[in-house]
Amino acid sequence: MLLVLGRRVSLSFVKRVIPQDPVLLSKPILQNFRTIKFRVIHSSTVFAIATRQNTDTMPERRPFVRLPTDVYPVNYGLCLKPDLIDFTFEGKLEAIVEVNLATNQIVMNCADIDIITASFVPEGGEGEEINATGFNYQNEDEKVTLSFPSALQKGSGTLKIDFVGELNDKMKGFYRSKYATPAGEIRYAAVTQFEATDARRAFPCWDEPAIKATFDISLIVPKDRVALSNMNVIDRKPHPEDDSLLEVKFATTPIMSTYLVAFVIGEYDFVEGQSSDGVTVRVYTPTGKAEQGKFALEVAVKTLPFYNDYFNVPYPLPKIDLIAIADFAAGAMENWGLVTYRETALLIDPKNSCSSSRQWVALVVGHELAHQWFGNLVTMEWWTHLWLNEGFASWIEYLCVDHCFPDYDIWTQFVSADYTRALDLDALDNSHPIEVNVGHPSEVDEIFDAISYSKGASVIRMLHNYIGDEDFRKGMHSYLLKFQHKNAATEDLWDCLEQASGKPIALVMSSWTKQMGFPIIVVDQEQQGDDRILKISQKKFCASGPHNGEDCPNWMVPISICTGEDPGCTKLKVLLDSPETTITINSVSPDQWVKINPGTVGFYRIQYSSAMLESLLPGIRDLTLLPVDRLGLQNDLFSLSRAGMISTVEVLKLMEAFVNEPNYTVWSDLSCNLGVLSSLLSHTDFHEEIQEFIRDLFTPIGLKLGWECKQGEGHLDALLRGLVLGKLGKAGHKPTLEEARRRFKDHVEGKQILSADLRSPVYLTVLKHGDSATLDTMLKLHKQADMQEEKNRIERVLGAISAPDLIQKVLTFALSEDVRPQDTVSVIGGVAGSSKHGRKAAWKFVKDNWEELHNRYQGGFLISRLIKLSVDGFAIDKMAAEVKSFFESHHAPAAERTVQQCCENILLNAAWLKRDADDIHQYLLKRKAPPV
Ligand code: BES
Ligand code: ZN
Repeated sequence: MLLVLGRRVSLSFVKRVIPQDPVLLSKPILQNFRTIKFRVIHSSTVFAIATRQNTDTMPERRPFVRLPTDVYPVNYGLCLKPDLIDFTFEGKLEAIVEVNLATNQIVMNCADIDIITASFVPEGGEGEEINATGFNYQNEDEKVTLSFPSALQKGSGTLKIDFVGELNDKMKGFYRSKYATPAGEIRYAAVTQFEATDARRAFPCWDEPAIKATFDISLIVPKDRVALSNMNVIDRKPHPEDDSLLEVKFATTPIMSTYLVAFVIGEYDFVEGQSSDGVTVRVYTPTGKAEQGKFALEVAVKTLPFYNDYFNVPYPLPKIDLIAIADFAAGAMENWGLVTYRETALLIDPKNSCSSSRQWVALVVGHELAHQWFGNLVTMEWWTHLWLNEGFASWIEYLCVDHCFPDYDIWTQFVSADYTRALDLDALDNSHPIEVNVGHPSEVDEIFDAISYSKGASVIRMLHNYIGDEDFRKGMHSYLLKFQHKNAATEDLWDCLEQASGKPIALVMSSWTKQMGFPIIVVDQEQQGDDRILKISQKKFCASGPHNGEDCPNWMVPISICTGEDPGCTKLKVLLDSPETTITINSVSPDQWVKINPGTVGFYRIQYSSAMLESLLPGIRDLTLLPVDRLGLQNDLFSLSRAGMISTVEVLKLMEAFVNEPNYTVWSDLSCNLGVLSSLLSHTDFHEEIQEFIRDLFTPIGLKLGWECKQGEGHLDALLRGLVLGKLGKAGHKPTLEEARRRFKDHVEGKQILSADLRSPVYLTVLKHGDSATLDTMLKLHKQADMQEEKNRIERVLGAISAPDLIQKVLTFALSEDVRPQDTVSVIGGVAGSSKHGRKAAWKFVKDNWEELHNRYQGGFLISRLIKLSVDGFAIDKMAAEVKSFFESHHAPAAERTVQQCCENILLNAAWLKRDADDIHQYLLKRKAPPV
């Protein structure tokens, strides 16, 4: 499994099974029910406990100060003239500003820009123009102070600044993106990426989300280029001094934050549609590829009215463009009216795109369009509330995809992709609360992580379930109306939801957003006549085992309960607001199982008493438990085993109970956890035995699915086939390997082109067991590929190659011109995640090439992903020390927390291995031995 764009993307995988004895987790999970004293929760005191950070190891941050508010912008008149040959740009800013307090200085954000002249013209000042006498750049703070010879008086005025800058190659600010024309000529587009704090690299500005203003943007561009910005074009005329240039003027924007401003100048084709609510939607593609924009257009045209209806607030701009940018660091960016995407997050070729790409495009479009309301119309007051933007969009993108593509069963996928990922990260001592104080840009970059996205989305899902859809929508509507064109903080949303629902939302939710971590709910039961009595308690769950200290934090936990009588129906809902409680469920016969958290909606893990757990396990084999609950149960137990609370052998036994499993997402999650285990056991000399286990587990489903798509199959069957065949192939399942080789040969020879859904598993399989000729063929396919999706597909599996010299070749390739800068990370990550040797080689490569890599990503979030992918898989104590010491001398400010999380993970892996390796080995040997 690779982390791509912050999501779990499974590359493949899996195998065959011998039915085992009924799975019983023999080791009692809950030894005895311990009484914990009731403690009243006071949000401010109790929640402070878990927000405590590991400050002892954090290097000191420099003090950060927000911009003064004595002068603020009302309207930016901005004209930019990029030079696509010399990679420079000239800019002219004429900003209408309001002076609140007489001052002879204006402090603004500004980075990597040279100011040529600056002056101030007071409104009604009869032509009086006050020239600035000094520009004092505070480079570290990314600010400039303009000094004037006399005080600017309270009132309005125009600040005029002429400046120049570079169209950089760092994928941030105003930058250049390389592309080839259909004839193969290399050219450059000029594009922007401003979130979080890089508008200041394109023009001097008040680059804080709460300092909103309107924008009048003009671009001076070569006349054969497309020029786009947030708004529609209102004027296009030849440049008076150069008739090869056009001056394109855009309509005035609504009042908005700087990070949402965007412009693009390049060569593109487009497809256009109209949403039922009257918005013109265009999807811009590279020239000659307009067809590939059709899928995203369909999604966007359905999505806009969906949100319009859900929020009951119309989309406020006349148009929206979605555009694919060749060099793009994030997955996509929600600039108001001009959403930018990586090519692979927007373009779909009906023949060559696989099912998971379509799903990804739908999710990303759903995510970015949600931001047009939630983020753009109402913006977080400060980056501390970034999670509001990202958590909310990461939740509602699923609601939107569920609406557009009900056959994707996308909510079950949410649990595997976001919910479990958030639980894993948030169980670390080096996690952080959802709401986190941030100041300096590197701190802001650092919180674009799984806590803001996946935990944010998970707690909103829990909240939506707690409130109910009707009141939730009511609350959302009043929040958007009340704060439209303004800024809001987390509490503002809680207020509106509280009003709409009459429930104590702020109290419940602050326990989830202000303190890091989450509880493990410990449950035991007793039958009393017709009633079932549950004893429920909570304590903080830590990846190293439950929190046993005195100062254990508490959460306000919405708990729902179902029984075997109707597994899909919630029988009882309670709000656990204390460390422990007792619940009576009426009319439950002794033979009925009772399950906590049906739907796996509550953000917690569960530790059942052994009797309760045993009663639930048959529901896995006979599929009476819902898929999402089978998945959740397996994932909880896997996580408990990593934390040393149950033996990993018990989890292996549990996994064998999934032999009849038909559900893609359940397999996907299982496969992912087996991947983690396989990576752990690659540190031992019995790695082959776990491969055999994987082959055995995945073989029956592999046989059932076969290689050919059958009539009537849908999206999830395609995903499942790819997953299972890839897993089997990687684990060395001979028939799968042989068939993969045969199909690969036909594909390369052009006899029978592989269907898009089979390419990843086939490529992975042949590479894993391939030689230098296989690698060369794959590199050739990479060169020939016209679609970025195909290039990425190949890049992500190259690391599977086994021979050390070939691994080296893949690493060198990762930094070559053939790989887009944003994709280097997944090539190196693919190497690190594939084998023991790959892991070592990738880490050495990162160290040896640190300067180049760090410079390439300028400390942005890609560097955090690179570090995580490269070192998270180690399982030896001394590697944690090595990683720590390397980053002490090689600073990556935006990745400080990631480094700490990785070191913690390495130590956890090492402890897990020491604790369970022998037992796992014995179990794997025993299951192979013929019965006596
Ligand atoms: N606002 C972000 C883009 C972004 C990410 C800007 C990181 C600055 C730093 C955008 O809405 C987003 O979340 N994009 C995701 C894709 C999404 C579907 C999860 C991404 O880029 O990974
Ligand atoms: Zn987002």
